[in-house]
Amino acid sequence: MAAGRGYGKISSFPGCRQPTPELKPAIMAAPHPRSPTLDLALPDEAATATLARRVAACSRAGDVIALYGDLGTGKTVFARAFIGALAPGEQSDGDTEDVPSPTFTLLQCYDREPAPVWHFDLYRITRPDEVYELGFEEALTEAISLIEWPERMGPLLPADRLEVHLTYGEAANARQAVLIGAGSWRARLAGLAPHD
Ligand SMILES: Nc1ncnc2c1ncn2[C@@H]1O[C@H](COP(=O)(O)OP(=O)(O)OP(=O)(O)O)[C@@H](O)[C@H]1O
Ligand SMILES: [Mg+2]
Repeated sequence: MAAGRGYGKISSFPGCRQPTPELKPAIMAAPHPRSPTLDLALPDEAATATLARRVAACSRAGDVIALYGDLGTGKTVFARAFIGALAPGEQSDGDTEDVPSPTFTLLQCYDREPAPVWHFDLYRITRPDEVYELGFEEALTEAISLIEWPERMGPLLPADRLEVHLTYGEAANARQAVLIGAGSWRARLAGLAPHD
């Protein structure tokens, strides 16, 4: 954790670090086109939250979870449930129980176990490499990254990732989720299917 960075705080970092050259090739790799997928109907908000909790249960430091979907499809609902499912970390000061929508922030960090959660909302970035100014390299080594609007990162989105694609269903509160497991998520994807 960089000096002075607190959990649960809105982050806009004046000290911009440049990516280390040796990291670049690895994180620019595209996911394998035949990555396994999982299609799930989410009839209501509770179903989205249940899915998020299931993903949280098998997440660990270094994970990247890319949340795709149009405005209002439930990316933040997913992120809130994910963060709420994890136990508070030792440094948690209690300000993270109510997880706000980061619509007007680029990043919020939460002290959680087994790893901190960094919730990015990249809707407002204008260049992919702005993620480095947010400390994205640090997130890759020590945190779980939940990323709304990951397409804004372009080729900087790590190939090893879980993609969650949310779309509107026919009923007002229905959503459809398509999960794509790449890299280390290939093996974990099967465990995310509902048991019943
Ligand atoms: N099945 C569902 N899953 C998730 N959210 C749902 C569902 N049904 C209704 N909703 C509602 O849809 C809205 C989703 O809002 P949310 O902020 O999560 O969207 P978002 O994808 O993060 O949008 P944005 O791109 O603006 O950040 C909430 O008001 C939520 O109550
Ligand atoms: Mg959102």
